[in-house]
Amino acid sequence: MGMKITFSKTARKDADTAVIVVYSNKKLGPQAAALDKKTGGFIKQALINHNKFSGKNGETLALSLPAKSPFAQAVLLGLGDASMLEPLKAEDAGGKLYIALKQSGAEKVTLLIDGHTKLKKISEAELAAHIGNGIKLRSYTFDRYKSKKKDKGALKAVGVQVGIQAKAASLFKTLNSTAEGTFFARDLVNEPPNTLHPPHFAKTLQNELKPLGVEVKILDEKEMKKLGMGAILAVGMGSDQPPRMVIMRWKGNKSDKTAPVAFVGKGVTFDTGGISIKPAGGMDEMKMDMGGAAAVCGLMKSLALRKSKANVVGIVGLAENMPSAKAYRPGDIVKSLSGKTIEILNTDAEGRLVLADCLTYVQKTYKPRMIIDLATLTGAMMVALGHEYCGSFVNDNSLWEKMEKASATTGEKLWRMPLDPIWKTAMESATADLQNLGKTGRYAGACTAAGFLEHFIEGKTAWAHMDIAGTAWRKSDKPTSPKFGTGFGVRVLDRLVADHYEKK
Ligand code: BES
Ligand code: MN
Ligand code: ZN
Repeated sequence: MGMKITFSKTARKDADTAVIVVYSNKKLGPQAAALDKKTGGFIKQALINHNKFSGKNGETLALSLPAKSPFAQAVLLGLGDASMLEPLKAEDAGGKLYIALKQSGAEKVTLLIDGHTKLKKISEAELAAHIGNGIKLRSYTFDRYKSKKKDKGALKAVGVQVGIQAKAASLFKTLNSTAEGTFFARDLVNEPPNTLHPPHFAKTLQNELKPLGVEVKILDEKEMKKLGMGAILAVGMGSDQPPRMVIMRWKGNKSDKTAPVAFVGKGVTFDTGGISIKPAGGMDEMKMDMGGAAAVCGLMKSLALRKSKANVVGIVGLAENMPSAKAYRPGDIVKSLSGKTIEILNTDAEGRLVLADCLTYVQKTYKPRMIIDLATLTGAMMVALGHEYCGSFVNDNSLWEKMEKASATTGEKLWRMPLDPIWKTAMESATADLQNLGKTGRYAGACTAAGFLEHFIEGKTAWAHMDIAGTAWRKSDKPTSPKFGTGFGVRVLDRLVADHYEKK
């Protein structure tokens, strides 16, 4: 849910805090000037006195106002050079404003949006909507397991005042849908693995997405066996919680007869490594190994909430990778849904097995014109690009161009990685068709993983593999929430669909 944000033309009378925007020329816009007048020129004077506040983008300054003022305090929000201001910067400023509002003790806030004659990369309505989106995205919390809710502070609501209120509200509505999708993905990642096991994950999708008009089909392990999904089933064998595959369909345009686009997510609800067990330190973090699946589900929620005019299939492969007497072993040879046999050399390289069967299933069943998979697939990806960039392996230049644009507009950073035939070959086995470890050893680990997946892409289907091992999860510098899911992928893929796969 996060913060509730509303739009209107005039300031809320019941607010205790007014936010005014300040560009780098430090001149007050009409709404700010009107307020300043009521304070007897207090704000103008403060701008002169506080020589440290320069109106830089994202800078904030809280001021207690004199008694005669209509609000107890004002928070100044710097927006920087008007001619350089663009939606992502507005969003960033909104995030910082949220922090400043919390610190100032504000309860009810009225945010006075003044435009500027030099705005050219953003309209006034967009400015209002994107600052709102920044506030919203930053206001996320996950505290359902705290018996004593941490004091959430007094901040209850933010009302945005802007001349073109209807336009701003309608822009925000779309952004808000995607923020809600992002929150859903974050919630799924943050949920502990003892509750979010595969059957519960599948049920959650049914409960959350069906009411929004998304078709949700759950394959249980019996059906998966019957179909021949030997790869994902092998991963789940060691667990008492059986695997699931969930197929979600959003049919936003019934008259559009072109093939749908498909998104596939790795949903390993906990990855111990299996018999090739991981070291104890930090193993708790492997509850986030379903971050790819979470992103796909968050995307489906966003598409449904904003009633996207696209036809989209989302598939998640859900399994828990546990060591036990029933677990699969190194040395096993399993048969994937594609018919290709796979020699298991390391049970910790399980994500690619889960994805393999999902990829085959989606191609056989829906013949999509484009597939993107998301997975927390390799530690090697994190070594290469850290938490900032998501390495993306793409077999189609025009698809990559589209992804790159969507990345630039949403700020979810993608970096193209190489798909080379050498890594595809490195995954061929002497005894089976494939092996799940690359012959190049630990070098190029993210690339060999992509090379493995490439064996499951049929014909010339446009395909991208996004390894979100580094971006799905973040260690925060705040001691109170040391680790949390980011919902990475929802925003960039929602943008991609909106820009290229919706027929109006
Ligand atoms: N889920 C892990 C990858 C991972 C590691 C994600 C750290 C996020 C943070 C994946 O299943 C895995 O264990 N990969 C192995 C592959 C190796 C055995 C070829 C890895 O990266 O070490
Ligand atoms: Mn693993
Ligand atoms: Zn894993």
